[in-house]
Amino acid sequence: MQQIDTIAALRAQRALWRQKNESLAFVPTMGNLHDGHLALVEQAKTHAERVLVSIFVNPLQFGANEDLDRYPRTLQADLEKLKGLGVDAVFTPAVSEVYPRGLEAQTVVSVPGLSSILCGAKRPGHFEGVTTVVSKLFNMVQPDAALFGKKDYQQLQVIRFMAHDLCMPIKIIGVETQREKSGLALSSRNGYLTAQERQQAAIIYRSLQEISLAIENGESITVATEKALAEWYHAGLTPDYLEVKRLSDLQTPTEKDHDLIVLAAAYIGTTRLIDNLSATRK
Ligand code: PAF
Repeated sequence: MQQIDTIAALRAQRALWRQKNESLAFVPTMGNLHDGHLALVEQAKTHAERVLVSIFVNPLQFGANEDLDRYPRTLQADLEKLKGLGVDAVFTPAVSEVYPRGLEAQTVVSVPGLSSILCGAKRPGHFEGVTTVVSKLFNMVQPDAALFGKKDYQQLQVIRFMAHDLCMPIKIIGVETQREKSGLALSSRNGYLTAQERQQAAIIYRSLQEISLAIENGESITVATEKALAEWYHAGLTPDYLEVKRLSDLQTPTEKDHDLIVLAAAYIGTTRLIDNLSATRK
């Protein structure tokens, strides 16, 4: 497995694969790899002959008071995990390689509307940071397919809209959320949780399941979400949002919409976790 640090070396490697007509699947990550990321890599292998993973903690997608400085950086352990999976190359650029003119001067890619609701409303500028870095990485890597976890469903849809709007010839693939036995969605931020907080956090997925079931049974969404929020407060969580949206574009569903999604964000102590579950209304 090659480790590539520069855009020039990445382009040279991409050109070699292209010469041999080999397709490329891309898994962008911020490192601190867990089984959720490894599932993305396993899926990537089924979509192309070559697989490239990037590890880059993107400063542009963190707000001023967020966890950029303490975000877990575990490069050596990450590289070991990827080697074992048969990844062809890992791209590990420095911040100065990705943003040579600095963060302030960087041209920004933005998906209006979808980027300013839910997590976008709570974390202003976050999705602009994501779409900017992902479009830069797409231009650098030039993959045929790129894979993203459905745990970050809003991010997945924002990237799908971006790729569509900017006519990027890249297949965007969403991969199912990996969960602990308790149902807690795997996330690098779970590492911030104490053992007790980890147990508390499992309530998020239980609530998603209950609301999803209520939707499928034709029961009131308002009643189901209010019950879940009361349970969260009781369990010591601070809700950020708990909402039911249309699956395709995360807008408020109308009576005619059947494919819905329940999206949740909550603080357990100082750690903010997100999760979601789709639901079909008859
Ligand atoms: O989901 C992530 O890890 C990041 O948002 C991504 C897509 C790698 C962009 O920095």
